Amino acid sequence: MRTSLVAGNWKMNGSRAQIQLLVQDLQSNLAQLSSDIECLVCPPSIYIDQVSQALKSSIIQIGGQNCSEIAIAAFTGEISPAMLRDFGCNYVIIGHSERRLLLGETDDVIAAKFRVAQGAGLKPILCVGETKEQMQSGQSFLVVARQLQTVLTEVGINAFANAVVAYEPVWAIGTGLTATPEQAQNMHQQIREKFSNLSLDIAAKLRIIYGGSVTSGNARALFEQQDIDGGLIGGASLKARDFSDICHAAKSSMASL
Ligand code: PGA
Repeated sequence: MRTSLVAGNWKMNGSRAQIQLLVQDLQSNLAQLSSDIECLVCPPSIYIDQVSQALKSSIIQIGGQNCSEIAIAAFTGEISPAMLRDFGCNYVIIGHSERRLLLGETDDVIAAKFRVAQGAGLKPILCVGETKEQMQSGQSFLVVARQLQTVLTEVGINAFANAVVAYEPVWAIGTGLTATPEQAQNMHQQIREKFSNLSLDIAAKLRIIYGGSVTSGNARALFEQQDIDGGLIGGASLKARDFSDICHAAKSSMASL
């Protein structure tokens, strides 16, 4: 059985005071969460130390939202994967569509980030997903397969034994438009099949999580799908109650599989 993962992507939100409250509330809401689910928060990098201190004895893990594609260099403003590790991160989000589309991150840069992050001991959460136009012209899987292939070519299939794929249709991010459970399952199944062609074992163990307007209202139906192993949560991860409800939904749907 795959252990469900629910990750909160806080994006560029929060202040010291807000984050202190959010973390306190998360700890009390998630105190009963058992070990058959992994729960992760990804704060803006400047707040990682604050969150890491506050969550020292908690089951809630910490991840970065991005890292440099170069391990060590004169690279003003960037943060290396080793620095994220140094501050207690286990995971890092790689290739989020906001970075692909707003900052021009290419598949090649994303593949390099994946490799360097793993080299530093982080588990990459590789985001893939198609835009609305690509979806409307029937290219969804073509786009996702290309995004995955660039990384597979760079690091090889075995690297995915220690990584997570997040399917996030761009048209569903922050829009309130969620993929239906069937739409999401259909894509997740195709993604798993792509990996199965290279290694049945790695494909069976690979966690493929869904992101895009997941809420406490729609999470359960999504997580009940065979190939959906949790979620990457944006807006709803900023509200402790909503995020906790989503984590609990993941736990019980995995238990019923
Ligand atoms: P959303 O964001 O849940 O606010 O749609 C998801 C994401 O961007 O990871």
